[in-house]
Amino acid sequence: MLAFRTPNRPSWGAVTRPRARALRVQATAAPEADFCTIEEYREPPISPEKRQTLNLLLAAAVTLPTAGLLGPYAASFVPRSSGGAGGPQAAADALGADVHASAWLAAHQPGDRSLVQGLKGDPTYLVVGEMGLEKYGVNSICTHLGCVVPWNAAELKFMCPCHGSQYDAQGKKVRGPAPLSLSLAHADVDERDVVMLSPWTDIDFRDGSEPWWT
Ligand code: FES
Repeated sequence: MLAFRTPNRPSWGAVTRPRARALRVQATAAPEADFCTIEEYREPPISPEKRQTLNLLLAAAVTLPTAGLLGPYAASFVPRSSGGAGGPQAAADALGADVHASAWLAAHQPGDRSLVQGLKGDPTYLVVGEMGLEKYGVNSICTHLGCVVPWNAAELKFMCPCHGSQYDAQGKKVRGPAPLSLSLAHADVDERDVVMLSPWTDIDFRDGSEPWWT
């Protein structure tokens, strides 16, 4: 093993505890072959080519794992969309796959309200009517303090578990403290059978008001 010894100074050996209370440091001799002076030690020179190779390896070791982590993280902020900003966006199921209307209707009965990933990633209810999917989706974010509001099929209401706000089957507020109704999105089926959501900028059909969320 390589160790250093400064000139004219003995090496230090083990610390021993003699019978007396004070600690005493005992100097021991070490084989000369195990030591060299600082002056004797010289780091082998690294050629410019070797240094560049080491730098590249170091950069790759730092960059590749970081890119692997940041890639999916950054991608999560890119909205799923087949159009421009604020345009239609495919509804996504729990696994992130596009929702196909025929498959959705085969699995959800009339009256059903189930969540999909909607505009800007907001959980949004698709509404199944007697004739198929309704042309609107209901954003599940409570207008009070932002809890996700579950659908209560027995009560035929959206009922917020946080502070008791209630909304009717179309998301219109019927009880506070929520100040406003749940927001809407258009829900249409495109030529690929995919459910597309788009911003609702029309009059709120539930009460004839201007949409507060635009
Ligand atoms: S967050 Fe829904 S009632 Fe408060």
